[in-house]
Amino acid sequence: MPDIILRRYAPADHAAAIALWHACGLHPGQSDTPEGLVRKLERDPDLFILAIDNGAVIGSVMGSYDGRRGWINRLAVAPTHRGQGLADRLMDEVQRRMVAIGCVKVNLLIEPENAGVQAYYERLGFGADPLIFMEKWLGQPAGDTQ
Ligand SMILES: CC(C)(COP(=O)(O)OP(=O)(O)OC[C@H]1O[C@@H](n2cnc3c(N)ncnc32)[C@H](O)[C@@H]1OP(=O)(O)O)[C@@H](O)C(=O)NCCC(=O)NCCS
Repeated sequence: MPDIILRRYAPADHAAAIALWHACGLHPGQSDTPEGLVRKLERDPDLFILAIDNGAVIGSVMGSYDGRRGWINRLAVAPTHRGQGLADRLMDEVQRRMVAIGCVKVNLLIEPENAGVQAYYERLGFGADPLIFMEKWLGQPAGDTQ
């Protein structure tokens, strides 16, 4: 993959990033508006990484660091570019950058219907933890996720 570069997400990438996530079976949510992703970029500019092939967005990983723990979201590689080590490259890069800013532990969540990807992360040294994941949307009635 000599021509594929990794670079920071930029606001102009919004439509391409959303299209990539749809193509990869990831479901963009209400935090993935253009403004939402700019807010994300302002917090962790170097951890929101895209893979670019000839100007096209063909991979992504969205890292976060809250000062205590790191999080990985939106790891995706376009179906056309899978099996070439690109996810490994994105994961190596985001974890290297996390270590560089003092992050000692990184977490991620897998949707139940995507449980098959667990084997990928185990290969990278991630272990499953039987936690109960709870969530709440702020500023709207309970149960409303639109
Ligand atoms: C999971 C995903 C990112 C892997 O991308 P990729 O670029 O094809 O992965 P790589 O080429 O870097 O794979 C590296 C290694 O992991 C292995 N691997 C890839 N996907 C795997 C999976 N689902 N389960 C187990 N191993 C997997 C590859 O076989 C390869 O192993 P090898 O080096 O021994 O040959 C990609 O399939 C994808 O975008 N899936 C849909 C989105 C998704 O599920 N994201 C995770 C959300 S939690």
